[in-house]
Amino acid sequence: MALQDVLVDELRDMYSAENQLVKALPKLAKGAKDKALKQLFTDHLEETKGQVLRLRTVFEHLGEKPTGEHCNGMEGVIEEGADALEKDEEGPSFDAGIVGAALRTEHYEIAGYQAAIAMAETLGLDEVVQLLEENLSEEEAAAEKITAAAKPILKASAEQPAEKKGPKSAKEKYSAKKSVEDEKKASPDLRRKSA
Ligand SMILES: [Fe+2]
Ligand SMILES: [Fe+2]
Repeated sequence: MALQDVLVDELRDMYSAENQLVKALPKLAKGAKDKALKQLFTDHLEETKGQVLRLRTVFEHLGEKPTGEHCNGMEGVIEEGADALEKDEEGPSFDAGIVGAALRTEHYEIAGYQAAIAMAETLGLDEVVQLLEENLSEEEAAAEKITAAAKPILKASAEQPAEKKGPKSAKEKYSAKKSVEDEKKASPDLRRKSA
């Protein structure tokens, strides 16, 4: 497989990721309680639509079609965001969970674009590099804006009184069980005595 083929796969993955985000960002915007955070997600949705179009231009340059790969990674990250939206936390603590999920999506995208840019640079695909750099800088700016918007939210969340936890859902129970398995399977030398 030539590097250009690896790049096309990587870009198809990103194209799927961006399309998935076009669907997911309105849910984050609707779910967020904090006005600034809501606005940020709404603004980034518009940027994300532009990124989808920019990626189409990249595929035109490469003479390839943009579809062909589903991004499982982004599906997982978005699923974590959906979990955050289901939490029965109130106000700032609810938003604090969303902030974590949103930052994960941005950093996943940043990693994808950094990898694709390095490949395109190696192949001397200057126009492709330039288009991908534009998407990358929007992702980096989005991550910075989320971090900045999170500051007052986290502060307010820290001041919230602790709430009584309700019973765990079936999904939460399954997740808790899997986390114990993850720990057990990791490595024998990391084994800890159960408390
Ligand atoms: Fe994006
Ligand atoms: Fe993004």
